[in-house]
Amino acid sequence: MATPADKLWRNARLATMTGDGLGAIDHGAVAAIGDTISYVGPDAEAPDATEIVDCEGRWITPGLIDCHTHLVYAGNRAKEFEARLDGATYEEIARAGGGILSTVTATRAASEDDLIASALPRLDQLIGEGATTVEIKSGYGLTLDDELKMLRAARRLGEVRNVRVRTTLLAAHAVPPEYRGDPDSYVDLVCDTIIPAALGLADAVDAFCEGIGFPPEQTDRVLTAAVAQGLPVKLHAEQLSNLHGAALAARHGALSADHLEHLDASGIAAMAASGTVATLLPGAFYFTREERRPPVQALRDEGVPIAIATDCNPGTSPMASILLAMNMGATFFRLTVAECLRGVTVNAARALGIEGGTLQPGRPADLAIWDISDPAELVYRIAANPLHARVYAGI
Ligand code: NIG
Ligand code: FE
Repeated sequence: MATPADKLWRNARLATMTGDGLGAIDHGAVAAIGDTISYVGPDAEAPDATEIVDCEGRWITPGLIDCHTHLVYAGNRAKEFEARLDGATYEEIARAGGGILSTVTATRAASEDDLIASALPRLDQLIGEGATTVEIKSGYGLTLDDELKMLRAARRLGEVRNVRVRTTLLAAHAVPPEYRGDPDSYVDLVCDTIIPAALGLADAVDAFCEGIGFPPEQTDRVLTAAVAQGLPVKLHAEQLSNLHGAALAARHGALSADHLEHLDASGIAAMAASGTVATLLPGAFYFTREERRPPVQALRDEGVPIAIATDCNPGTSPMASILLAMNMGATFFRLTVAECLRGVTVNAARALGIEGGTLQPGRPADLAIWDISDPAELVYRIAANPLHARVYAGI
């Protein structure tokens, strides 16, 4: 007889996300002791528990993981969106001093409390769709104090809500106006001052390797400095052009390379060799009306794990729906239902370098319980939310 559990969810269908696909169990149960899963398997063999929840045949998946967001920021860019409807491009707006830099101005002017207050509705939307882990990047401060302010706000969001927050330092998101003539000095500041100061506040370091961001040489310096401080790295790569950022990230053992519409075969091979996750961001693809799709079939062929995330940000993906991101991943990128679900569970965990995203003993008891009769329903509907209940850390 198995060890009695604190809580048991029985009479359920499980998508354990173990193995290659959904790892489905038809008549299943999940038990937890404290905040950790203690049993996953047939209902008939489930342990006894202090509290028993009858799931009435509903599906249970791991709690969803949004592994790439810029959830903390001030203001919005609706006016820029209007200008883009009139024909301006994202790059033109950025080069004219708008884009990321307009959010930087608003974010610098905001207090840590302001940032938390404005991020909460976005976080609550993700939580309301079953997200139990959310990555949040800095990158709209671009000074030592403002980057740390963003990271502290992100960490505090994980204290005011029942959600795991993973923070990523993205100080190399754009060259701030005060360094426009001398971007190398800003990269010095990032490497020598901001990265060391973010130790203990950031779980990883990211950069924007792009014509309107940082060229490969500067990106390389940032990633090198991060790795030297013991921080794992990620990279915004191959979003608008192919600067071979994914291969650069892979050389640093990156957890993930993200966007990747312009990724080529050598980048894919480098990612496959280093085990770097390809995080696809269909919301940004849609909102910027990008015409080039990431090379999904080649990623599959080379065995590169694929994650999907919202990229929730004010400029290129004003979307806080992980369910919609899955739907877009399927419709725009032709990902299968299993790939979409793996993209927001097991592969998203891998993109963050954390354990989780599967229903397995020893893993966090983070669950999403759904009013659906087939997992495809999670991907198929647009702007619908079949979440029945969410369990975070066993509660
Ligand atoms: O992931 N590519 C750079 N960073 C964001 C956009 C941020 C912004 O425009 O504010 C992205 O698309
Ligand atoms: Fe992003």
